[in-house]
Amino acid sequence: MAEPIDHLANPRTDRKAPLPGVLGAGIRSEAQAAVRGWPGYAPTPLVDLPGLARRLGIGAVLYKDEAGRFGLGSFKALGGAYAVQRLVQQFGRGTGITFAAATDGNHGRSVAWGAGQADARSVIYLHAGVSQGREAALRALGAEIVRVSGNYDDSVRQCARDAAAQGWHVVSDTAWDGYRDTPTAVMAGYSLIAAEAVEQLGPDRPTHVLIQAGVGGVAAALCVELRSRLGSDAPRFVVVEPSLAACLLESARRGGRTEVALAGETVMAGLSCGDPSPLAWEILDAGADDFVAVDDAFVPPAMRMLAAGEGGDQPIVAGESGVAGLSALLAARDRPVTWNALGLGRDSRVLLIGTEGATDPEIYTTMVGRTPEDVMAGGGR
Ligand SMILES: Cc1ncc(COP(=O)(O)O)c(C=O)c1O
Repeated sequence: MAEPIDHLANPRTDRKAPLPGVLGAGIRSEAQAAVRGWPGYAPTPLVDLPGLARRLGIGAVLYKDEAGRFGLGSFKALGGAYAVQRLVQQFGRGTGITFAAATDGNHGRSVAWGAGQADARSVIYLHAGVSQGREAALRALGAEIVRVSGNYDDSVRQCARDAAAQGWHVVSDTAWDGYRDTPTAVMAGYSLIAAEAVEQLGPDRPTHVLIQAGVGGVAAALCVELRSRLGSDAPRFVVVEPSLAACLLESARRGGRTEVALAGETVMAGLSCGDPSPLAWEILDAGADDFVAVDDAFVPPAMRMLAAGEGGDQPIVAGESGVAGLSALLAARDRPVTWNALGLGRDSRVLLIGTEGATDPEIYTTMVGRTPEDVMAGGGR
């Protein structure tokens, strides 16, 4: 196994300076109001896990559980579908309009769902490593599937090329030169997670938030929203990536946005990205306090721990990418240097963002040893 955990304190973070204005208050509040108005909207739960906190030797673990978001299994329901809604307002609805997206599963589900609601077509690009289970979930939402050889970053490029040739609307969660409006809308949708979390938190504010990153969109959205709502009380902002795809940590280390070659496909499928979104990077470069990369080996134990419900905690079904933050805590706990460098201790109150449930039930069952239904019904080990 490579290093279990790598950590870099962001040398450029400056709490006193305002964050770059690329994800403004206007679009965030517009997106939040729009999503709160969708049929079936309900805030996702913020679950207190005192048993897990005791096991980790910290003051509190608060888990924002995105598994139930609009029945799509992950927080991604907030972003792609909102961007589609904006494009529909601009370009119209119906079968004559096509939305295209590259995905490792969750973002595509959001785009396909949004397109379906506008009676539009969706063409979803999947790289070779995306599981059959995640493909089936997309087809069930009416998406047409294009399989691309290579990795996530290759699928993003192929989708953009085909869409330009066919006159389709690309709904990407990552930005590139001349393409920022839609990924900005996607991130604005994600900002609702932090808005809800702040409304749900009691008077004891978290000291840390651990948020996982693929291209960095959700991390950047939460960074902006938390800073804007909590100001100097905003928790220490820790970005967590898989060691196999640590493009933001590497960017921070080199002092500029850096694409990394993926050494392999991480089990945290939603985080398997080697190229940070320029929009997200701009925010995280200035606003993240720490970057952490964690080895895949910590993922199954983290999933099992949440499923078991430590010390009487409510059992939680969390998918592979959903447990990145807890995986980082487990890895850091075995390494006092990292634990201390992250400022973790008995008084720490850690907010974890459980970004997905069992988005591939077969993989979940293999890793946890129980089906998601069994975990939900069983109430612990
Ligand atoms: C479950 C899950 N968590 C986190 C992420 C990371 O989001 P982002 O690519 O915006 O960093 C993804 C992305 O697909 C995901 O599916």
